[in-house]
Amino acid sequence: MLPAEPPTLETIRSPIAEPFERFQTELDDAFLCDVGLVGTVGAHLHRAYGKRFRPTLVLLAAKGFGAVTDEAIFGAVVVELIHTATLIHDDSVDKSLLRRGLPTVNSAFNNDTAILMGDYLYSKAFSILVNKRMYEAMDLLADATHRMSQGELRQIEQKNRLDLAEKEYMRVIDEKTACLMSAGCELGANAGGADGKRRAALNRFGRALGLAFQITDDLFDYLGAEKVTGKTGGNDLDGGKITLPLINALREAPEGERRDMEDLIRSRDFRNGHWSDVVRFVTVHGGVAYSQKRSTELAERAEEELASVPDPEIRESLQNAVRYAVTRER
Ligand code: IPE
Ligand code: IPE
Ligand code: MG
Ligand code: MG
Repeated sequence: MLPAEPPTLETIRSPIAEPFERFQTELDDAFLCDVGLVGTVGAHLHRAYGKRFRPTLVLLAAKGFGAVTDEAIFGAVVVELIHTATLIHDDSVDKSLLRRGLPTVNSAFNNDTAILMGDYLYSKAFSILVNKRMYEAMDLLADATHRMSQGELRQIEQKNRLDLAEKEYMRVIDEKTACLMSAGCELGANAGGADGKRRAALNRFGRALGLAFQITDDLFDYLGAEKVTGKTGGNDLDGGKITLPLINALREAPEGERRDMEDLIRSRDFRNGHWSDVVRFVTVHGGVAYSQKRSTELAERAEEELASVPDPEIRESLQNAVRYAVTRER
């Protein structure tokens, strides 16, 4: 069983404190550009940092099998650049107004800026990989990025589908979220000198962790406090995104109640003072408990893969990263 006390990111990062500092400096350099708007958007993004969870995984994975090499540092930079690009695009697609407690790029600037700034960061990420001749990392990240865009497109296809199956949902979150974490973990392990078998274990670790991370995120949309998560609640359903808590509640609710809820969602009336009814439905019919159970199982599966990490201090940090992913509040 996982202990209740949630570890902090600082604790998780303590064995890689120095390389993490270097990662931050190199990341800032990616925003140096003679186009004023890049600096302006960069400054806006700098006003509120994300958790930097993925680069943390890359650096820990590298150290777990040897050392934090330059390849691991730049791998971490590239992974965070890709992540930032996807968030900027995702917020534009989702019409989200709030990210990390600040206005999103699409709302603080506009959609054009969000699209092109996302492109700038994507292309910057891949040009770093080419310049540094990091071909193995490029192999992993080209595939991950491609699958992420497939996931986001698949999600559009599934919009408003109240009959969405859990399996279909899992496929999307695997593509849009777990992919980048598994590629990042494998990249880190590879940079640290892990053999093929251990690389594969870290890939599976990142995948299970990423799935658990996204299920936790999807719970925030129903239960999270905006002030804590830094994102607007109810945004998923508002955008037609049917996620695990709702999928499960619709599956478990008695026929009559399910039909009433489907009508409420279809009428979009939940936006006019009925959001708490949706949250109650999802909670009462077990959608919250089931999602928590699924994310805990995935977290346990991720932990099992850590047996392949030889460094005990790093193994513990990665275990804490798993706990963090499912107990975090933002
Ligand atoms: C948000 O990722 C998108 C999801 C996959 C849920 P994070 O929660 O890692 O976002 P930041 O970077 O910390 O803001
Ligand atoms: C995660 O999807 C975004 C990507 C992985 C591209 P969400 O749309 O659920 O993420 P948030 O809730 O906006 O952070
Ligand atoms: Mg979103
Ligand atoms: Mg979300």
